[in-house]
Amino acid sequence: VYAPLPVRPLLHFTPPKAWMNDPNGLVYFDGEYHLFYQYYPEGLEWGPMHWGHAVSRNMIDWQHLDVALFPDERGMCFSGSAIVDHNDSSGLFDGQPGLLLFYTAHRVSGSAAEDYEQDQCIAYSCDKGRSWQKYAGNPVIPVPGFRDFRDPKVIWHEASQYWIMALACGQTIRFYRSENLLDWSLCSEFGEHQGSHTEGPWECPDLFELPVEGGTGSRWVLVVGVGAGKDSWGSFTQYFIGDFDGTHFHNENAPDKVLLMDHSRDFYAVQSWSDAPDNRRIVIAWINNWLYANKIPENGWRGMMTIPREIRLVATTEGVRIGQRFVPELGEQRAWQRAMIACGAVDEGGQLALTMAQESIKPVHGSISFAMQPGSCVDLYLSQPEQPDLTFRRTDSGLIMSYQRAGQNGDDAFDRFFPCHFDLPIIQSQASVTLEWASDNGSLELLINDGIYSLTSLQLCQSDVVVDNMQKLMVVSGGIEITGGQTNVLG
Ligand code: FRU
Repeated sequence: VYAPLPVRPLLHFTPPKAWMNDPNGLVYFDGEYHLFYQYYPEGLEWGPMHWGHAVSRNMIDWQHLDVALFPDERGMCFSGSAIVDHNDSSGLFDGQPGLLLFYTAHRVSGSAAEDYEQDQCIAYSCDKGRSWQKYAGNPVIPVPGFRDFRDPKVIWHEASQYWIMALACGQTIRFYRSENLLDWSLCSEFGEHQGSHTEGPWECPDLFELPVEGGTGSRWVLVVGVGAGKDSWGSFTQYFIGDFDGTHFHNENAPDKVLLMDHSRDFYAVQSWSDAPDNRRIVIAWINNWLYANKIPENGWRGMMTIPREIRLVATTEGVRIGQRFVPELGEQRAWQRAMIACGAVDEGGQLALTMAQESIKPVHGSISFAMQPGSCVDLYLSQPEQPDLTFRRTDSGLIMSYQRAGQNGDDAFDRFFPCHFDLPIIQSQASVTLEWASDNGSLELLINDGIYSLTSLQLCQSDVVVDNMQKLMVVSGGIEITGGQTNVLG
């Protein structure tokens, strides 16, 4: 036993039992947020893929529903998306609005690991997602003649009046379009010599348009998962900023520029909700990495999702970037106790440890902002008392952020890739930090400087034990000025 048995998180979605990976089919319909997920209800490791299903009105409190899709003679049900067919374009809903799922059927076709084929299929529901029919005309896009062909993301493209599907194909994304959601034609392919091409396949694309905050105009964002290759970083999520004209995606950055949606290890297969109210763009990701996903400690269930996050586009000195924040529902739906962080100037050159206002409490959601003078350093202890999770240093060349995660409970043997530490320069010529965090059983999520930097990590310690010992939150040397912050603890 490497670590204490994991305790269920209080705020993060976990499956009722057994194995879970990617979020699938995110859609809002009739007051409910639907969350489907890659699910193997019979095992604790990845296996024949089903679509598990849950609904929520606030994206924090979830109600589990019956499994929506089961493997069949076409194969397993791999990842995909969902839409509301408002005007019955598909003709499957008798003139009424209905829900459609797009998924990849995955079939083994021989005895070697690479003997498989994949095609794109549909399932539909006329009862708000409570029961699902697979479409009799499946597949809607047949096997193409190469292997990795999966994870359909379907959106409505207002300007061209077409449904668009983004599909991961080897290490590129193909765009298809359709008028009736059943017949699809190929428009273009994006990705050769663009972004990151490690060994792993590209997976789980997402595509959406957002206004640039404080600026004029909008941008299209193409999000692409990069599957685990043999290198030690494993699976991660990149994104491209540019324009989508209805048939082609145009990257506005240099082709070799790699933008990351998260800089830590455990943020994968992110997807956004279709049809979210008020034009909100809300995403959720699987907190895991294919490097060790099948090996992390389990306790009858394995795998968890992030806190849902709202995505914005922020103009920076280096170009437009994604900014993330936890959905405000996180703070609204619970009985929180609030503990203000001590505010004010810290002695120049002195050392100061800020302690939590209460003892033995669980800091689940907090924020702090501070300005840093040259030479100052801040250590933040958010998950354990012995080692800071995050360090900020103001050096001559700017602000450097360091993240460190140990193999916890004195054991690094769980997986040699689990312990990690890295330094990240903050891009803007900024001398101040805003930090928001969510620390729950099994994970730590950090959003820095308007969420332009996100660090999402599994934490294998049992948080309850840690929290009992947690006195310090922050140790400062040199001059900083705290400009705001609070912690909210589940009361
Ligand atoms: C991403 C992924 C998808 C695939 C699914 C299978 O994590 O590999 O590409 O559809 O998981 O469970």
